[in-house]
Amino acid sequence: MKIALIPGDGIGPDIIEQAVKVLKVIEKKYNCKFEFTEVLMGGVAIDATGVPLPEETIKICKESDAVLLGAVGGEKWDVLPGHLRPEAGLLGMRKALEVFANLRPAIMFPQLKSASTLKEEVLGDGLDIMVIRELNGGAYFGEKVRIDTEDGQKAWDTMAYSTSEIVRIAKVAFETAKKRDNKLTLIDKANVLESSRLWRETVKKVALDYPEVELNFMYVDNAAMQLIRNPRQFSTIVTENLFGDILSDEASMLTGSLGMLPSASLGSGKLGVYEPIHGSAPDIAGQDKANPIATIMSVAMMLRYSLDMEDAAKEIEAAVSKVLDMGYRTGDIMQTGMTLVGTKKMGDLIAETLK
Ligand code: IPM
Ligand code: MG
Repeated sequence: MKIALIPGDGIGPDIIEQAVKVLKVIEKKYNCKFEFTEVLMGGVAIDATGVPLPEETIKICKESDAVLLGAVGGEKWDVLPGHLRPEAGLLGMRKALEVFANLRPAIMFPQLKSASTLKEEVLGDGLDIMVIRELNGGAYFGEKVRIDTEDGQKAWDTMAYSTSEIVRIAKVAFETAKKRDNKLTLIDKANVLESSRLWRETVKKVALDYPEVELNFMYVDNAAMQLIRNPRQFSTIVTENLFGDILSDEASMLTGSLGMLPSASLGSGKLGVYEPIHGSAPDIAGQDKANPIATIMSVAMMLRYSLDMEDAAKEIEAAVSKVLDMGYRTGDIMQTGMTLVGTKKMGDLIAETLK
């Protein structure tokens, strides 16, 4: 199985190293072979080639079975124009590989309940929310313009969606809800935005093919509030790109730390891009401080969705849980009475537990 590795910037290389450790254990245990090819994207690609997403990277990713990504971005490249920033590499890749469905599960490990900023009674027995974010459209990819005007400048980004773009993500959402508890919430701003009104109409039509799924609707401002007020009312959420970006960060924090949450970006085939939802955290890069769990959990998603290795995925998730049970914590999830460990040690512990 061919895996393209994109360590990227900041803590990216630190965490990808731990993910590879875990995959090496899986190789032995399941008697399979992973062929890793490391490619450039983001700031490191800008430094080496002048562009954030070299052609070579796209080519290798397309020829792979899965792409495992660390993180991109950093202050150093913030001065560059939009289309040359590290983030443009990430967006370009999502588009080039046509991974339009971004699955961001916000699952709380019971061991980390007290690490959440929410009261324990709000969290109850735990959280299991699946945020499905549209990843190839909306304001991220619509027309962007900046013009000079008499009093300065004017700029706009266009949030545009077509019926077919909504239908394909809606199908993923209904299929996902079916595998869970048959509950789906569409989050939009249909009281104001025309694109949201098209989302609602279209999703309602797709719903006719899924009578077993209970569909409801919520405005995004209310959803942001409800996620904090009573997060357990949500199960599967589907939403457009920008709303999904914002709400998935919010949902992650309910579970204790941004450092815990993985994601899968899927298209119509088997190829997927797997990455932690957190950023490149340049302030702690190379210092053995980053939490590698989100990336290791992304490896589990990769085995599940792209490589048909559900058992191995479950084993990784169980190993992470066991290491938390043993009381090991990285700085971001540290609590009194626990043992503080660095990135490498956390990777070793999970790999050892898997063996
Ligand atoms: C994410 C990130 C990216 C996004 C950035 C780095 C471009 O925040 O994956 O959520 O906005 O999609
Ligand atoms: Mg984000």
